[in-house]
Amino acid sequence: MKNSPRSRAGLVVLLAVLATVVTSRAQPGRPGNPPPPVPQPPPPAPAAPTRVPAPPAAPASAPAPVLAPAAGLGGALAGLTVAQSANFTEGRDAFRERETPATGLGPIFNDNSCLACHDAGGIGGASRRTVTRFGRTTNGVFDPLEAQGGSLLQDRAIDPAVRERVPAEANTIALRVTTPVFGAGLLEAIPDAAIVLGTTRAKPAGIAGKVSVVRDVTSGQNRIGRFGWKAQQATLLAFAADAYVNEMGITNRFFPNENAPNGNTALLARFDRVPDIEDPVDPADGKADVDRLADFMRLLAPPARLALNASAQAGERLFATLDCAACHTPTMTTGRHAIAALSEKTVALYSDLLMHDMGPLGDGIAQGTAGPREMRTAPLWGLRSRPVWLHDGRAGSIDTAIRAHAGEAQNARDKYTRLTDAERRQLLDFLNTL
Ligand code: HEC
Ligand code: HEC
Repeated sequence: MKNSPRSRAGLVVLLAVLATVVTSRAQPGRPGNPPPPVPQPPPPAPAAPTRVPAPPAAPASAPAPVLAPAAGLGGALAGLTVAQSANFTEGRDAFRERETPATGLGPIFNDNSCLACHDAGGIGGASRRTVTRFGRTTNGVFDPLEAQGGSLLQDRAIDPAVRERVPAEANTIALRVTTPVFGAGLLEAIPDAAIVLGTTRAKPAGIAGKVSVVRDVTSGQNRIGRFGWKAQQATLLAFAADAYVNEMGITNRFFPNENAPNGNTALLARFDRVPDIEDPVDPADGKADVDRLADFMRLLAPPARLALNASAQAGERLFATLDCAACHTPTMTTGRHAIAALSEKTVALYSDLLMHDMGPLGDGIAQGTAGPREMRTAPLWGLRSRPVWLHDGRAGSIDTAIRAHAGEAQNARDKYTRLTDAERRQLLDFLNTL
């Protein structure tokens, strides 16, 4: 979007939206689809395609990084105080902790610890592990089938009798692969206004970008989303609370109710034996596990950058000329923060944290203000520590991930495919240093 009067008007609307507290009904236990539609510049009209992606192909041999492998993933930010380091360590224990039916796991869930999914390269990493979202698309409109337990499937249960299934009504099914949380505190500390500003920056023809506006369950405020494939959460506390109940079945102060299997509350009542809430606040320090989980993720260091050799330096220039940087913004800056290690820092995330219409690469799921074809520009930092790429993990190499770009990224993708083999190698060498 060019810096036109229309986009300035859009900015004013968005800032106004941020100032407003959403008055709509909250949807406890279904936080993946929170706020009502918010005024946005009109999207292009065509009906959303309904895609049912195949399970990720057996990972092709991902190109080995040419430079040294990632060091120190899973460690704390530099420059923490003694008290902050203690919070990090305590939070890390919570992230590792395996829940059992006796401690509140389930009745339906996807896994029994945060670490079970977030472990590639170090604690807090990505993995090949996917979760399933489903819904019904009619004339391009996505219905998350909330009454039948959508859109997130819980595919495990403490008893086979209670296990959730994708209902027959669902005609849109998508996989989402686990994203890493390295450096998540820096992403959280980027001011909403800085993300909004990205929508007004001049961009190459065909590239737009809009914010995901979410109702943050921890503050009740409208915020700019930044976490998850659809930028569906704005804060780490909200993501932790959401993941605790939706991935593990641990009720907490933000989500006090269990998910009923496919919406069947009678069935839930028969198997839900641990009284809610299952994540109480400890009177000794005023914290529950959700707070500890948020502390850990907030204080987790970003992936270390590797030195650029000559090939990677040439690749960095190509990254700009191919217009990759129009969406994968090399850096953003955090605002003032009570934690010095997060305050006014340059964040080399390689994302604008905006939603882009990716055409057929969209996952078909509408979530919050994000439409079925829209996806958050994936941050490219730490790319080399990932086992698979793209939202459903379909890409077994970074090259495959780039070739799958479409929609607003079609031109950049086409330019990439026209590079010589040597130039492509340079670009990949650069990406492997992030
Ligand atoms: C069953 C596997 C699974 C478990 C268990 C799990 N996660 Fe995740 N996590 C995912 C997937 C998949 C995504 C991407 C989801 C999406 O965007 O739809 C994700 C994304 C995230 C993100 C967003 C990071 C970003 O910037 O994209 C955070 C934060 C997160 N998880 C925290 C947690 C915490 C805290 C726990 C434990 C309470 C947890 N997760 C448990 C699979 C899991
Ligand atoms: C119009 C915005 C846009 C442009 C231009 C763009 N990308 Fe992306 N990129 C995205 C989005 C959105 C995703 C997430 C797609 C998905 O998984 O559904 C993504 C994902 C990726 C991924 C996979 C990341 C992951 O976490 O799995 C890589 C690698 C990547 N882009 C590299 C590039 C390169 C290199 C270029 C330039 C040739 C480029 N991108 C141009 C928006 C863009």
